[in-house]
Amino acid sequence: MECAEKMSEEKIITSLLTEKRVFPPPPAISKKAWVKNMAQYREMWKESIEDPDKFWGKLVDSITWIKKPTKIWDDSKFPPIAQWFVDGKLNTTYNAIDRHINEGKGDKVAIYWEGDDPNDTRVLTYNDLLEEVCKFGNVLLKAGLKKGDKIVIWLPMIPELVITMLAAARFGIIHSVVFAGFSAGAVKDRIIDSNARILITADGTFRAGKKIPLKEKVHKLLEETPSIERVVVVKQVGLKTPMKEGRDTWWHDEIKNQPTECVYEEVNAEDPLFILYTSGTTGKPKGVIHTTAGYLIYAAYSHKIIFDIHEDSIFFCSADIGWITRHTYIVYGPLLNGATEVMFEGVPSYPSFERYWEIIEKYKVNIFYTAPTAIRLLMKEGEELPNKHDLSSLRILGSVGELINPEAWMWYYQVIGKEKCPIVDTWWQTETGGIMITPLPGATPLKPGSASRPFFGVKAEVLRDDGTPAAPNEEGYLVITSAWPAMLRGVGQNPQRFQKTYWDRFPGKYYSGDGAKIDKDGYIWILGRLDDVLKVSGHRMGTMEIESALVSHPAVAEAAIVPKEHPIKGHAIFAYVILKKIITPTDDLKKELKNHVRGEIGPIATPDEIYFAADLPKTRSGKIMRRILKAIVNETDVGNITTLANPQIVKALWEDYQLRK
Ligand code: PRX
Repeated sequence: MECAEKMSEEKIITSLLTEKRVFPPPPAISKKAWVKNMAQYREMWKESIEDPDKFWGKLVDSITWIKKPTKIWDDSKFPPIAQWFVDGKLNTTYNAIDRHINEGKGDKVAIYWEGDDPNDTRVLTYNDLLEEVCKFGNVLLKAGLKKGDKIVIWLPMIPELVITMLAAARFGIIHSVVFAGFSAGAVKDRIIDSNARILITADGTFRAGKKIPLKEKVHKLLEETPSIERVVVVKQVGLKTPMKEGRDTWWHDEIKNQPTECVYEEVNAEDPLFILYTSGTTGKPKGVIHTTAGYLIYAAYSHKIIFDIHEDSIFFCSADIGWITRHTYIVYGPLLNGATEVMFEGVPSYPSFERYWEIIEKYKVNIFYTAPTAIRLLMKEGEELPNKHDLSSLRILGSVGELINPEAWMWYYQVIGKEKCPIVDTWWQTETGGIMITPLPGATPLKPGSASRPFFGVKAEVLRDDGTPAAPNEEGYLVITSAWPAMLRGVGQNPQRFQKTYWDRFPGKYYSGDGAKIDKDGYIWILGRLDDVLKVSGHRMGTMEIESALVSHPAVAEAAIVPKEHPIKGHAIFAYVILKKIITPTDDLKKELKNHVRGEIGPIATPDEIYFAADLPKTRSGKIMRRILKAIVNETDVGNITTLANPQIVKALWEDYQLRK
């Protein structure tokens, strides 16, 4: 029943399901592709599900081992924990860099870095990358860090971000990257939660020509993080920055006299590689744990197959958004494949809305991977801008992070891809480590708006509320019923939370939190989150985090956050706020509350609209019914309200919303 009610709110999204167009893969792409047709896909998928040992066993030699695994996977504790390449020993950074150098590819460009300012560029070959990683790796060693220690990285999209991650991985040090658009408070929380010993940050970051401070903002808060012994600061924008004697040092001073060579540590296949925090329905963001070998093999293989990477491919993932996207498809996937990629510090609108198209033309990008929110933003600017550029190097286009509406899909396909480039609409999550549902560019006929079919090793199902399989085209809950190498191994040190969040809703099946339906051709159509998670410009945020930030303001008694459909951002953040009795509601207070949330979580969490309410719809047990508020701001059917403690409030809020809009 609850499921049916929740689903009825997804009206706008459901209109996707009338989409009938199908685009076969262009023959030129199929000819060269790793997977050339549906028959090959089906055969490989079948083997990956029926015989994981055989399927993944063939990929063992895709990386270099210190000790080769004898066991491909161990399902004795699955669900929820499957372990992969169990008794193997390896080194991540060796596989991402040294291996390619040893194969004679040291002079190949690994990263073309493009700054926020178009004149600010850097080129790093695999040789350069190794030197930089070694220099910083030696800094970590000198600081006494060792395997299993944790570091927090709060850096913008600059090469030092990749260098730090790989330097840590060289010694089995676990990294936890915090998105530069998050607040200093988020950095503090993650340091405390992970007990990190070192913070690597920058004086600031450039964003659309502006200098945004980083270190200065976190400086005071570091008094509350006793685990932090050292802070290393990259001078990126030239801002004056407070430095604490004996704790804080500059990156350039640290690396100055370091050798450009360093040893590497042997790690076990199942040792953790990184922790990445992400939002869920309850509590603070949770630290998703990914381990080494399974994650790496899945990252490299999915990158190669889905983006059809070959020796000469130039790959550009513009993900300033999805933070896991960076890990898997900016750092580990491309570098493990020895590819050449473009890394971009800036935003699509600066200095003009042509920026992505300029970058594609400048570096002759073959594969471009971005988010629907960026596509919608650029589509609004018209096709004249991309048409001014030579985009003929493009072969494959990708989309990630949220639903792509068919209009945006068609624009991307026709205007950017000139109907020659398949679009891989890739569905996945922080927890899944890599892409789970996607077309394959040389094989899958495309339906605009559908992520199409499961990748190898992935068995996806759509279930009804009672756990029975949904019929074709019936909306339900998306679950994964197989184990795959890149799957998360836990959240924080909390096995109960892990079990409860992902494995109990449908016992033994991975619960994604997304709604979906499967059409009669077996295509999966993602319908968006069914839980209290928002997707704002592709960013994942829990309603509860934003509500907690609001309630931490002295004027606020209660708050409820709901997503409002937005033509570019996907979701806008709509905040219902009940003020404390003596407080007068004013426009200035609205501004103050917005700034307060901005300071607590970061600019991306700033409510778009704040609405002061006298009361909110609640169940008899006092739970706020966000579902009803969501229906009011999206002007959809509010559904059944008879179970509310205060049903009369719904009419009042509805009328008020209509009056004010
Ligand atoms: O709702 C789905 C949406 O993004 C959520 C995962 O967010 P996050 O962990 O931040 O990872 C984003 C980047 C991998 C999912 O639960 N999502 C992701 N990809 C798609 C999508 N929704 C629709 N279509 C997609 N291709």
